[in-house]
Amino acid sequence: MVSLKTLLGMLGAAEWHRKGLEVPGLKGLLHPRYGVFLPTRTEYVELLLKAPPPLGMRVFDVGTGTGVLSFVLLQRGADRALGTDLDPRSVACAKENAERLGLGGRFVAEERDLFPDGRADLVVCNPPWIPEPPKNRVDRAVFDPGSAFLRAFLEGLGAHLSPGGEGWLLLSNLAELLGLRPAAFLAERLAEAGLAVKWKKDTAAGHPRAYDRSDPLHAARSAEVTTLYCLAVA
Ligand SMILES: C[S@@+](CC[C@H](N)C(=O)[O-])C[C@H]1O[C@@H](n2cnc3c(N)ncnc32)[C@H](O)[C@@H]1O
Repeated sequence: MVSLKTLLGMLGAAEWHRKGLEVPGLKGLLHPRYGVFLPTRTEYVELLLKAPPPLGMRVFDVGTGTGVLSFVLLQRGADRALGTDLDPRSVACAKENAERLGLGGRFVAEERDLFPDGRADLVVCNPPWIPEPPKNRVDRAVFDPGSAFLRAFLEGLGAHLSPGGEGWLLLSNLAELLGLRPAAFLAERLAEAGLAVKWKKDTAAGHPRAYDRSDPLHAARSAEVTTLYCLAVA
């Protein structure tokens, strides 16, 4: 027995997997799997296009999901990328998509918690953004209880950067707008971790729910800004 909502989610995912999904900035289609975070809201991917091309860089992609961030960075000139994810379905999905896009020789995915071993020139991360407990396994891509993932990412980032390396953190301010995280949270964690913001790029929410006035969260969603923070050791 499964709920209708789960069944519809599975059928939808099967169709996306069969047909493939166009993602702005990605050359080729992405074929997501059920339970893997899907970039249907694409403004965060497009932020990567506003950043300098990562020419020749070795990339870590923490919480890789479908692998989409790695693929865009590889297509923009990164040398190779290593994605990690706690979810085995994401790891399998990212590997499969790398092969489909002809990037299999430059992309590796590992099932593990947060960072891989070693250091990289560029560490990219789009963490789960709602600091509340997940209601089911699939929600773990979106919910980050107590901002534990975000805290651990910021604490560990410096130790995984090559000299002069950069961390590219994609983060929306929805949690702050909903009162789920204090406004000063990020600045305080950055200071504690000895990190500084080198530059940042913002984008306003462009997805349909941001314009849906009947949505009880409309006020927050319409004011949501997603930011790409370029972080470096201070
Ligand atoms: C918001 S999704 C981002 C996926 C992908 N990077 C993207 O931008 O489309 C967050 C991802 O982090 C993964 N994740 C959650 N906790 C993790 C952890 N402790 N270590 C590694 N990955 C984790 C989730 O499974 C999910 O794939």
